[in-house]
Amino acid sequence: VITDRETALVEDALLDALKSDVTPLTRAARRIVQAGGKRIRPRIVLLSYCAAGGQDMSKAIPLAAAVELLHTASLIHDDINDGSALRRGIPTVNGLLGNGMALLVGDFVFAQTLQILSSLDPWALGILAAATIKLVEGETLQSINEGNAELTEEDLLEIIARKTGALFSAAAQLGALAGAAGPEQTGQLGLYGLNLGIAFQIQDDTLDLVGQPEVLGKPVDQDAQQGKANLALLHSLRCSDQLRMAFESRDAARVRAEIGRVGGIEYALGTARDYAERAKDALCHLPPSPAKQALAQLADRAWQRPA
Ligand code: IPE
Ligand code: IPE
Ligand code: MG
Ligand code: MG
Repeated sequence: VITDRETALVEDALLDALKSDVTPLTRAARRIVQAGGKRIRPRIVLLSYCAAGGQDMSKAIPLAAAVELLHTASLIHDDINDGSALRRGIPTVNGLLGNGMALLVGDFVFAQTLQILSSLDPWALGILAAATIKLVEGETLQSINEGNAELTEEDLLEIIARKTGALFSAAAQLGALAGAAGPEQTGQLGLYGLNLGIAFQIQDDTLDLVGQPEVLGKPVDQDAQQGKANLALLHSLRCSDQLRMAFESRDAARVRAEIGRVGGIEYALGTARDYAERAKDALCHLPPSPAKQALAQLADRAWQRPA
């Protein structure tokens, strides 16, 4: 549905935005963008635009770039907070240049997002500002709850909805609005994005337990080492005292083994599947189109355990 040319236009918009005569900023920001990434959020913008009936893709491309830049800024800052050394298969900005520079590079990317938005319709700024606030709230709640084995699954899902669901939802809404969707369709696509984002984050958390760093391009076992809860863990804590001890002593290998033993991975991926189904349900009132099909496919991929 999305052509190579359109994909390339998003890439151009990303790199174009990251320009400063202070070349270390340009270099550091472009480096992390050029390292790749799945580009799922810009894809959601473009597909939602088409699914809502948008005809002129050039209207959706700056929005797609803005969403991806916001995501990139959040990753640069997230890696500072998580003390991560690897992202997209290359050293993180903080790993390479230190936390102080990474803070600035993240700010730079964020501010360039605002720059793009300043030339677009005002509703785009409103939607992305609201999503950014939720993202920061989610990251803050997660940070406050580090080491908290009593966190409820409901609270965790609320954290996930904010830190990841909100931006996915914004991406879908932006595409919809640019495609001149009415409030009903925009709301439904927003719901699609929210539920997809939740499924996606549950899957990502699960990969921290069972994935491989070479495949993911980022470290694994980090959440357990840092006492960050995830759905598989919270569910498994209910039936394993061993796990509680392993979690409290931040013993990632034992955490992983215990969660595996009591079926926590299957539980988490099952829940991700439920959210992915909800995402697909939210598409039901859209007229059939290749873009709608592609959105449904994204949801199908958000709960399966990659080999
Ligand atoms: C990473 O997002 C952070 C999460 C919300 C899990 P992505 O998995 O989309 O990261 P990239 O952009 O592909 O690197
Ligand atoms: C996602 O959280 C980060 C944001 C939503 C900003 P994670 O900390 O789980 O993401 P990764 O695992 O570092 O990609
Ligand atoms: Mg992280
Ligand atoms: Mg993670």
